[in-house]
Amino acid sequence: MAKSERSLVVPLLSGLLLLVSGWLPPRVEAQGQSMASYVAECDAAVGVSVPGFQCSGGVTIPTTNSSGSSCDRPNRLNRECDPDSKYLSLVSNSSVEIVGLCRRKGNTGNNYGDIAVIQHNKNTGATCFYQALGLLSGTVSAPSAGTYPWLSPQTTASIECFHCHDNGPIIRSPYLTQVGLLGSGDVTFNKSNPYYFVGADFQSWATYSVEILGNICNSCHRMGTNNSGGCPTCGAARDLGLRATAASEVSKNPHSATSPIWMTPGATTYSSANDSQAQSIATCAASARSAIVNGQSLPNTPICKVWKYSSNSIQSRTYMPTQITELSVVWLRYFTIFNRIPTARELAYGARKLQEGATIPQLDAFIRANAWFSSSTILR
Ligand code: HEC
Ligand code: HEC
Repeated sequence: MAKSERSLVVPLLSGLLLLVSGWLPPRVEAQGQSMASYVAECDAAVGVSVPGFQCSGGVTIPTTNSSGSSCDRPNRLNRECDPDSKYLSLVSNSSVEIVGLCRRKGNTGNNYGDIAVIQHNKNTGATCFYQALGLLSGTVSAPSAGTYPWLSPQTTASIECFHCHDNGPIIRSPYLTQVGLLGSGDVTFNKSNPYYFVGADFQSWATYSVEILGNICNSCHRMGTNNSGGCPTCGAARDLGLRATAASEVSKNPHSATSPIWMTPGATTYSSANDSQAQSIATCAASARSAIVNGQSLPNTPICKVWKYSSNSIQSRTYMPTQITELSVVWLRYFTIFNRIPTARELAYGARKLQEGATIPQLDAFIRANAWFSSSTILR
């Protein structure tokens, strides 16, 4: 809106800026993007294409001390032990991570019941999701080949991966941290790293950070919630965090040294203090739900602060000329409002707001809403 209004007022200047910056208005695409087009967009945004793979080439996810339907580390998706499933780190370099998971769901040999891939750029946050379900071969062709029974982007989007994957791209459950999943034991992960969703069918997805000043669950990573219609009560803040600190979990052996409680790291047994910290986060997230879906102002006090941290419209573009302009605008706004210079993170987030089309009053509101924690010790 704001952009087209402005370009009516100063068409020449805007035209020049667009030309100089290489900025392109967001494409409006019909629902139901083709797989080929999704893959092309994802590969351009993330930087490395998803390769084909053999599930059997992955790491076998251990099912230890299994008795009946319980084991030390059941998976948290289906809350079952599901032996002989495979985890694959398909690509891992300084900017790109591509991970695959072949869930058996009772199948054997070269057959699996749920094969999923997440393609992520750590620097820009660009993230893509690929899913196959049903009786599947463990010989998986690349989504770019288009042949494997990959679900269409639209069908994948309808599963709403983000309603659970709302703490960042990767959910680090004990099921997968036991095989060294990306982010295992990393207290800088899912904290302030960027996250956004590529592809026309994924543009309604948004994730939010839930913060309470001094809450222990905010000290190593964010606690995420989301705008899902499918499962509002899923996600890190409202579901996974509660399960991670509960006295017991479905299909999990009683907490002990060999079957430790999920959170916090290093703890083995239940802590009512941690449980109640997680409950407070869940209550704060639940209280934000209607504001999230109705676009109203979000809770913003030290005892409950919720803000959207994912961004839908940032592409991995190079636009130095506008970026310098944007950074100086943000710098000036921080100086005007708080009489201090912004942190690097605040600068980046503010510039991003402008790139998304925010007006100066909207930017000011964003700055005010997101400033208190930057001066606290919780997040930097
Ligand atoms: C109902 C919650 C839920 C939904 C919806 C969901 N996931 Fe997950 N996913 C999980 C959980 C929990 C894990 C962690 C492994 C475990 O314990 O099961 C996980 C793990 C993964 C992993 C392994 C890497 C990681 O994050 O740990 C991939 C890949 C993955 N999911 C892909 C997808 C894709 C693609 C979709 C959407 C089509 C999706 N997931 C939807 C809950 C969900
Ligand atoms: C000392 C740092 C630390 C604290 C404190 C902490 N966590 Fe975590 N959390 C982690 C790490 C590290 C992981 C990754 C799993 C692992 O390595 O054990 C994680 C993973 C998680 C996940 C999975 C989602 C994700 O980001 O991968 C949830 C949910 C979670 N923590 C909830 C909580 C809750 C609830 C609390 C408060 C009681 C809490 N955490 C406190 C470090 C911490």
